[in-house]
Amino acid sequence: MLWLPEMINKLIVSLLQLMPKRFVWIFSKRYIAGEGLEDALKITGEFNSKGMLATMDLLGEFLTRPEKVESYKEEYIRLIDESVKRKLDNSFSVKPTMFGLLIDEEMCYNNIRDIVSRAALNRRFVRIDMEDSQCTDREISLYKRLLGEFPGNVGLVLQSYLKRTMNDLNNLAEFDNGRGLVNIRICKGIYNEASSIAFKSKKEININFLKAIDFMFRNKIYAAVATHDREIINGTLKLINEHKISSGEFEFQMLYGVTPDLGKSLVEKGYTLRIYVPYGKDWFNYSTRRLKENPRMVFHIVKALFVRG
Ligand code: FDA
Repeated sequence: MLWLPEMINKLIVSLLQLMPKRFVWIFSKRYIAGEGLEDALKITGEFNSKGMLATMDLLGEFLTRPEKVESYKEEYIRLIDESVKRKLDNSFSVKPTMFGLLIDEEMCYNNIRDIVSRAALNRRFVRIDMEDSQCTDREISLYKRLLGEFPGNVGLVLQSYLKRTMNDLNNLAEFDNGRGLVNIRICKGIYNEASSIAFKSKKEININFLKAIDFMFRNKIYAAVATHDREIINGTLKLINEHKISSGEFEFQMLYGVTPDLGKSLVEKGYTLRIYVPYGKDWFNYSTRRLKENPRMVFHIVKALFVRG
């Protein structure tokens, strides 16, 4: 049985998919830099001038046919070259299903390897985003494989809503064997997972989030704390004090367009903040898919439509 607000959210999501793209753009534009490479570079430059770093993400995921893989790779390579040329302070985020993870793992590895290799050549960093649970094992394997070849230039994401995450962190710490090369973005997780494998309550997800950060601080794993949740941010700040963590061992991360004031306040206090800057022609699918996966986001859309500034 669905609650009435949930039913209303689902109804709005279904309706949005039938609306003209121009209408959906009204709320999406707050969260997406634009359709082209220049848009992403411009927004990144603006964040840099405010003392914030960025991670740039070309939109596209869950590819079903391999034809587009080559052009996505070329776009990432251009993005790396352009941001180096313009001396921007940013890294890159990639979604393995965009490079065919679910079609051909070897093809996916080879394409992402080319991107990481170009980034490493320019002393840049690439993070592998974490997608839904059918990808978790494959994305961890992909990460370990790349880490062997490009230590210091590649990172992964783990999700605190997954019950397996502490176990994955333990395994990665063992794999690292004290070398201090593992770099993890920890976030809550955006996909709709079954309760057999995922925590569903905010309380449990937040407890697991802070447990993961505590573990990373104890085990010299670089922690990219990706959240807009004040409870987790405050909990992280306490752990930083407790473990005497230096600024080179962690950073905060937030999504473009979400809680900018909270981000600004962290930067004013001297913390490193990286903004996730998504861009690309695939913004419509990205926005509506996100909504389908997490209809609670409708609340933010309605707010974005009616509350300005
Ligand atoms: P929560 O959802 O509880 O939000 C806390 C508060 O932030 C809300 O109360 C609201 O005020 C504000 N807020 C949150 N989202 C908002 C929005 N869209 N608009 C307006 N206000 C909003 N997930 C994943 O599965 N794989 C991944 O690789 C990544 N990568 C990633 C990178 C970065 C940099 C971030 C910040 C997040 C991700 N995520 C992700 C998404 C993540 O899993 C999660 O869904 C969102 O960050 C929202 O969770 P919060 O921790 O912010 O808490």
